[in-house]
Amino acid sequence: MVAYKSKVVERIHLPSRTRREQALEDAGYNVFNLAAEEVFIDLLTDSGTGAMSDAQWAALVRGDESYAGSRSFDDLEAAVEAVMGFSNVVPTHQGRGAENVLYGSLLSDGDVVLNNTHFDTTRAHVANQGAEPVDCPVESAHDPTADEPFKGNFSLEAARAVVDDVGAERVSVVIQTVTNNSAAGQPVCVENTRDVAAFADEIDATFVIDACRFAENAAFVARREAEFADTEIDDIAREQLGYADALVMSGKKDGLVNAGGFVATDDDALFEQCKQRAILYEGFPTYGGMAGRDVAAMAAGLSEAVEEAYVTDRIEQVRRLATMLEDAGVPIYTPAGGHAVYLDAGTALSHLPPEAFPGQAMVCALYQEGGVRGVELGSFAFPDTDRPELVRLAIPRRTYHTEHLEHVVETAVAVLEESESIPGLELVSEPEMPEIRHFTAELEPLSS
Ligand code: F0G
Repeated sequence: MVAYKSKVVERIHLPSRTRREQALEDAGYNVFNLAAEEVFIDLLTDSGTGAMSDAQWAALVRGDESYAGSRSFDDLEAAVEAVMGFSNVVPTHQGRGAENVLYGSLLSDGDVVLNNTHFDTTRAHVANQGAEPVDCPVESAHDPTADEPFKGNFSLEAARAVVDDVGAERVSVVIQTVTNNSAAGQPVCVENTRDVAAFADEIDATFVIDACRFAENAAFVARREAEFADTEIDDIAREQLGYADALVMSGKKDGLVNAGGFVATDDDALFEQCKQRAILYEGFPTYGGMAGRDVAAMAAGLSEAVEEAYVTDRIEQVRRLATMLEDAGVPIYTPAGGHAVYLDAGTALSHLPPEAFPGQAMVCALYQEGGVRGVELGSFAFPDTDRPELVRLAIPRRTYHTEHLEHVVETAVAVLEESESIPGLELVSEPEMPEIRHFTAELEPLSS
């Protein structure tokens, strides 16, 4: 059931096919290099790209810009306590700022960090502290067709194997990312969170939840985990997050804002450490690199994210796009996750081997065909791994309507119809760090 109507609108425009072809060539066949004006439906990310509510815009105007002791910070503290159950909050400019503050406080050289799957910036921040990030996804996470309800779960079996190998004393931090963005946005069940908390306790590690998409995750728990069938979304969220020692949060996702993030913890000593590090990297701990108005909007957004009407509208829209694509014969990762539909480019463009970047070829074809911008998460973004060749179509929150989704489906169908004539790509330039090459590298089509 749709939960919103529009109050402010933004004009969008589909450039001509000739213009799109030229723009793509000028962008080095990398859609990160496209001007947003050249894009019609932008599904590059769900991060900071959503629409705020009228209540959030009102909060923005009332934001308190005081350097210290801002009333908007009090509002954020109250929202984090009410929605997530944590009493100490350190605001930051966005999620990776929170990662720097928290992991810089917790980690030392030589530590090992376990996570269901590290998101790119998490992996980079762990490595930046001299620690080693190790992924522990469940086996089905990278199987695009396994029909399981919680493919985002953390594998305790994999984690115990790492502990046996490196020794429990080296594993100082255990992270659970909900939903699991790098595993097709798949959810994590509360039972798994409980087990991971007990495991972290057993090996004396700090248990962190990356809560970016905590509300979407809670909506899946309500629908798929029998114990919570009759539990309200906000109660599920508080229970699941409550098992953690600390949270890292990007407000740009389930904070429903365009900027912001925070660390939350009930551990007073850790809170003190984070505050000091935040002063160095983010700002005074009552604003943390955010404008007071953005803090106010995030406080309002957090409360909206756990409203049943909001979160149902949200995950139902993603599911609707997945169903429309499936019905039209487009191969996708199933079941659909919380914030995006992932196209299975390995199947759709099966004539292209991984070294010809089938995912990136599909991203380019989607743009050329219909001005739709997605992002590759396969052999281009993750060189030297055997992940499936996926293309993520991330849906900004409260932004697009069914007509937009229909255009995306029509575009994907047209791409599929001509799939055999879509050329592979080769790299022509790439930056020094292979981990982040997909943001700026340039490519060109292979001549057949
Ligand atoms: N953790 C997860 C699971 C994320 O998905 C992201 C961002 C971050 C941390 C970092 O947060 O962007 O506010 O600094 N994900 C975005 C995406 C960029 O497109 O998936 P940030």
